[in-house]
Amino acid sequence: MQAENDKKYLLRAVDAFPHRMIVLSRDYRVLAACSHVNSTPDAAMLGRFCHEVFFRRSDPCADCAVKTVWETGRPAWSHRRDEISGAEKVSCLYAYPLLSGGEVEAVVSMELDLPPVTRVEEQLQRSNALLRNLIISALDGVIAADKRGKVIIFNDAAAEIFGYTVNEALEHLDVRNIYPDGMERAVMRQLRSDVHGGRGKLRSYQVEILHRDGRRIPINLNAAIVYEGSTEVATIGFFHDMRDTLRMKKELEKTQLQLLQAEKMASLGKLAAGVAHQLNNPLGGVVLFTKLVLEDYDLPPGVREDLGRVLNDAERCRETVKELLEFTRQTRHLMRPHDVNQAISRTLFLLMSQSLFQDITIETEFDPQLPTVHSDIQQMNHLFMNIILNAAQALSGRGRLTIRTAYVPESGCARIEIADTGPGIPPDVLPHIFEPFFTTKDEGQGTGLGLSLVYGIVENHGGRIKAFSELGQGARFVIELPLTPRADGDRAREQET
Ligand SMILES: Nc1ncnc2c1ncn2[C@@H]1O[C@H](COP(=O)(O)OP(=O)(O)OP(=O)(O)O)[C@@H](O)[C@H]1O
Ligand SMILES: [Mg+2]
Repeated sequence: MQAENDKKYLLRAVDAFPHRMIVLSRDYRVLAACSHVNSTPDAAMLGRFCHEVFFRRSDPCADCAVKTVWETGRPAWSHRRDEISGAEKVSCLYAYPLLSGGEVEAVVSMELDLPPVTRVEEQLQRSNALLRNLIISALDGVIAADKRGKVIIFNDAAAEIFGYTVNEALEHLDVRNIYPDGMERAVMRQLRSDVHGGRGKLRSYQVEILHRDGRRIPINLNAAIVYEGSTEVATIGFFHDMRDTLRMKKELEKTQLQLLQAEKMASLGKLAAGVAHQLNNPLGGVVLFTKLVLEDYDLPPGVREDLGRVLNDAERCRETVKELLEFTRQTRHLMRPHDVNQAISRTLFLLMSQSLFQDITIETEFDPQLPTVHSDIQQMNHLFMNIILNAAQALSGRGRLTIRTAYVPESGCARIEIADTGPGIPPDVLPHIFEPFFTTKDEGQGTGLGLSLVYGIVENHGGRIKAFSELGQGARFVIELPLTPRADGDRAREQET
């Protein structure tokens, strides 16, 4: 039994309680009220139905907590919108039994504005939906997996990178299978170490993943282990497809290399052109005066013969100088119809005098009907020069070099074939020969730029180049150049053994 004073305070506390508190009978009639409803005084509620007073209903509310208390004998709660005001306010109804001899005699019901559970749920749902949308529309592939490797998040970008549909990934994909052999363990090891962004984190880790069709795709991976407390529950990874970036980087490198090579060739060309000019004038003098002496003097036959030889050699020198001037002509990127046979002959003419070519038999089978090719002559010179030099180097100065040209009416192309009887290109080397800086030559002997430049030139002219080789059987390069540049630039590089 409470002391009188206690009771007084408790009654005052109930009075001061700033929320509706009512005591209800089994048939939902108000037995006592402290309602704070201004429109209806508490005394006027007594004996009336709760649902009628507060909700203007003729029947009890379906989800009423009071009803649950009558049914179970235990406290209960429910929540609902304020139907009288129609406002969006959500209230919570707490109810508990007043017992008498173990039986429920009446039920106390308190209506509180807090906590609006549905609102919290709604907000939770909304922020979940926002998060979902963020993940789905992220530009990088997002994949989360539980501890067993089962994929639990797989967004559209991941579907694009990996080649699985979102549903396939969620139903069947094991996250361990998205990496090539052994790579998954390496990723997890890095993730657990401190090296890339701290324990449980992986920042900007370069890795390859396996596309569904078996292709390997370069990825920049950011990943994290998801913890609950100190327990690992999942991993999440953000997969950035690096193919475009790498392609652009390669393009840039190629352009830089071409510039570098072009500069190198240009300065060599300038030097050669300077020397050629210097030689041209005195050679002109030698030819002229030899001719004058031969014409003006009555020379003994032996002397005349010797002077004839001088004249011949001087004219050959002039011819060489003329070719050299032509070869180094500073006409950059000038596309004009050019005679490919002549361009090859000019390159051969200049190279043949080199000691490297002395014991090399050169066979040419030029198609006399070969139409002209719309091309940049300087680039053509570099193209043939590089391939022929490679062949001579492979022959180590001994063997046969065959050059054939032909018109291919089906493709409308000029076909140039340059073959040597050297040692050939090993199968593991063949796929790399067009890569910049790829060389098998000793340091100082080759930069590995020659064929990458050749490839760039053929590409610029909308043509294709293929390398064929069988070990011990020499190497053969086949170039096809369209007579006029193609609009779509049909470009290809292929190697075959
Ligand atoms: N005719 C050939 N026979 C055998 N191997 C060849 C032949 N042509 C090219 N190669 C191989 O291809 C590689 C790349 O050739 P590339 O012309 O690009 O570079 P390089 O000749 O090594 O150097 P650089 O031409 O820049 O001085 C060579 O190192 C060589 O291994
Ligand atoms: Mg080379």
